[in-house]
Amino acid sequence: MIPVLIDCDTGIDDALALMYLAALHHEGEVEIVGATTTAGNVDVQQTAVNTRWVLDKCGLGNVPVVVGEPVPLQVPLTTTPETHGEFGLGYINPGAQDISRDSWQDIWRNAIAQYADLQLIVTGPATNLATFGHVQNTTLMGGSYLYPGNTTPTAEWNTWVDPHGAKQAFAQAKDPITVCSLGVTERFTINPQTLNTLIDALGTTPIAAYLPEMLRFYFEFHDSQGEGYLAQIHDLLTVMIALGKIPFNTRKVTVDVEADSELMRGTTVVDLRGHWGRKANALLVDDVDVDAAHAELLRAAILLNRFASEVT
Ligand code: RIB
Ligand code: CA
Repeated sequence: MIPVLIDCDTGIDDALALMYLAALHHEGEVEIVGATTTAGNVDVQQTAVNTRWVLDKCGLGNVPVVVGEPVPLQVPLTTTPETHGEFGLGYINPGAQDISRDSWQDIWRNAIAQYADLQLIVTGPATNLATFGHVQNTTLMGGSYLYPGNTTPTAEWNTWVDPHGAKQAFAQAKDPITVCSLGVTERFTINPQTLNTLIDALGTTPIAAYLPEMLRFYFEFHDSQGEGYLAQIHDLLTVMIALGKIPFNTRKVTVDVEADSELMRGTTVVDLRGHWGRKANALLVDDVDVDAAHAELLRAAILLNRFASEVT
């Protein structure tokens, strides 16, 4: 059983990552010890509402969800309703949700104290990670290394939203952060056909009924960007990698982030030749078995359906 702390800015791909984690939680493969949220796709209260809603729809109303840092370390908050929808779940409105007012830092401190093998998975901006300080066994979705950005020509969204957070998180890392960047996460996509297969596998799981309207918004967004009528599921792939559930390769490297330039804000740079003479601070995922990721998603959907069938 792998103890997991998820730090997310629930959005559509974060929601699928949470659904996947819920399946493995019910199966006893992981324990979601808590979820904390950042501002990114939508504001920090809404990302907590969305996270609460998804976990409840996956039978995990007992998992604590708390609001994290409200805004990036230094730059004003920018959100992206055009990518994830007005509320952050595509065309779905999750309505009001009761969010705990506990301290997110207490959730992190207690989880670290209780679980020596805790896996921290960050699928939004690195604001909470930078604020809290180094956490062992951290996996982060972010950056675009020697690869085009999705927010500017050189910057990926999470890193662009809080560039100072990302810069500080890598600077304070006492051991390398496992990094899932666009170069691998953009390879993991679903389309209407694979979504239907997923929904069939989910069967009676309550969240299944909401996926069409959640993903339709994401399909339309990617289509508007010239990617085709599909959706890149960045955060779900990141969670599978963090848990070691699919084959992947990493390179031990040193990375840094441009935080203060207007034009190059959020640009992530990897030193592959030791120019900087600095200690490695990242395990950059440079290859992944995408077919295995699709199979793993269906395995999880079957598990979630089995749980839902047992409890109804
Ligand atoms: O660039 C992709 C990342 O930005 C994903 O985490 C997505 O949820 C958005 O937060
Ligand atoms: Ca995210």
